[in-house]
Amino acid sequence: VKRIGVMTSGGDCAGLNAAIRAIVLHADAHGWEVVGIEDGTLGLYERPMRARRLHPEEFDGILLRRAGTILGTVSHGDPFAFRMPDGSVVDQSDRMIEGMRTLGIEALICIGGDGSFRILDRLCRKGGIPLVGVPKTIDNDVYGTDAAIGFNTAVEVAVEALDRLQPTAQSHDRVMVLEVMGRDAGHIAIHAAVAGGADICLIPEIPYSFDNVAAKLTAVRASGRSFSLVVVAEAVRTDKGEPVARPKPDGGIRYGGIGQWLADRIESELGIDSRVTVLGHVQRGAEPIAVDRVVASALGIHAVDLIASGRTGTVAVWSRRSVGELPLAEVVGRSRPVEPDDILVRTAAGLGIYVGETAA
Ligand code: F6P
Repeated sequence: VKRIGVMTSGGDCAGLNAAIRAIVLHADAHGWEVVGIEDGTLGLYERPMRARRLHPEEFDGILLRRAGTILGTVSHGDPFAFRMPDGSVVDQSDRMIEGMRTLGIEALICIGGDGSFRILDRLCRKGGIPLVGVPKTIDNDVYGTDAAIGFNTAVEVAVEALDRLQPTAQSHDRVMVLEVMGRDAGHIAIHAAVAGGADICLIPEIPYSFDNVAAKLTAVRASGRSFSLVVVAEAVRTDKGEPVARPKPDGGIRYGGIGQWLADRIESELGIDSRVTVLGHVQRGAEPIAVDRVVASALGIHAVDLIASGRTGTVAVWSRRSVGELPLAEVVGRSRPVEPDDILVRTAAGLGIYVGETAA
């Protein structure tokens, strides 16, 4: 191998630049060149292509810390169903494969999530270009990895928010509802609830009853504490199972709104002053905390080693404080929800946090 490509694909998060840095530094040690493809598959589609050599000197220390991705990213860039500017959907896979050949890319590293791995796997197999995936997503729902890049920083942001909501909740005797991201997974919510001292944590994986939410809030008040903190994950539905999320014009789902629904319901049924904070994309744009820099660096180095040793068609994973790899086929199409017997669920329940109708 003389030249590898790297792209970031899907939603951004903290630690992407740290991963790119590790890849460039380690590839350089192998004597390889690295081409950074801009805006995911979009950079391969456009002519002239948007891709540039990445040099070790660029990574002078600042980029390790910087949020976002120097390469840019797109959320919807399926080469086989590519959305054209006029709204039509066209197979552009041949054009993108030709693009990679023109760039002289002999192997590709995609820093992405499950959706990106699926489309890049298909593209690279068609083009005969070895692929290695590096998992990133604040949602932490990529199968087979304990931590995806960006997750721990998102949790940190959510905990900081709870730390700031607690004094104002106490000052005003209020219920503060914090709505966090995570798509269909409640990892951010359950970690934040435990670390941030919440009273209630609702996640999509565990059903809940509003009566028990009300009972918990009433019990807190009866104990002499006049405020409560509630964490709710964005994909949680109403207690009747109705989705609050709305469809997006491109066919995706726009999550959010359950926090307001919950705060309104608490106020109207219990008569307790309630406010909602929707954390949103601040969970993605923070500077990576140390553990994310460590995970991103380790996975970036391992991805290069996987190419060097011919172990491609794989996803580099972080497991039990070490790296490993899984075949792409094992990762793609699966997710990693919060299991009802997850240690965080048991810990939360043990702390007296209402986490829904668990057996714990
Ligand atoms: O998957 C990461 C994520 O931040 C989810 O937690 C969230 O639901 C979604 O992306 C938001 O997507 P967008 O940036 O398209 O609004």
